[in-house]
Amino acid sequence: MTGTPPPPGNQTAANGETRLNPTMHPQRPTGPTRRKAAIALIAMPAIWTGARAQPAQPLRATPSQTEGPFYPVALPKDSDFDLLRNGALAYGRGQPSWVEGVVTDLQGKPVAGAQVEIWQCDEAGHYHHPGDGGKADAAFQGFGRVTVAADGQYRFRTIRPAPYSGRTPHIHVKVKLGTRELLTTQLYVAGDPGNERDFLWRSLGAQARSAITVPFAPGSDGLRANFPIVVAT
Ligand SMILES: [Fe+2]
Repeated sequence: MTGTPPPPGNQTAANGETRLNPTMHPQRPTGPTRRKAAIALIAMPAIWTGARAQPAQPLRATPSQTEGPFYPVALPKDSDFDLLRNGALAYGRGQPSWVEGVVTDLQGKPVAGAQVEIWQCDEAGHYHHPGDGGKADAAFQGFGRVTVAADGQYRFRTIRPAPYSGRTPHIHVKVKLGTRELLTTQLYVAGDPGNERDFLWRSLGAQARSAITVPFAPGSDGLRANFPIVVAT
């Protein structure tokens, strides 16, 4: 058995820490100074409680982008979550993808009842819109709308967006709550070489780019893109 015994007057606690005997340390604050220290210690929990009670840092709203010229003039009969089926027709071109995420407000709370709409061109680069010459494939739904439930989740089955003249691949996204439009933006594919040449994508700062540019990663049943949407309600 070896070891240095604690100085006389000190106590060794059960956990092995040596507690100093105040009488052995004349520099320890006494009198008014000691009382001030005690008051400070008592006040500390109140300070911490105050910090916890402050609202969390608000989230940054998803940046908006121009609507573009191809929002449907009239919504298609089939406008559900699955853009790979238009009525009885199935669309077999392009890379099937899930685009999904959660719609939250600036405090991170799901926005139940929000409507998420997406619209995009088909694999050949055509929209269902008179301004695009009616050339879009009839089997590609081109537009979808879902209403999010209490958990804020939305999900679409579509294709990885395709490029068309002058634009990098993108999916148009709009979020509504009742009659109010909360957001209109565009979603981009991370790593697509066309992004750097796209005038709209290039106009974004780094933070905004990262908020609306997401990977389309391989999954078990096609590509999968997670796009969280944050809106000011
Ligand atoms: Fe577009």
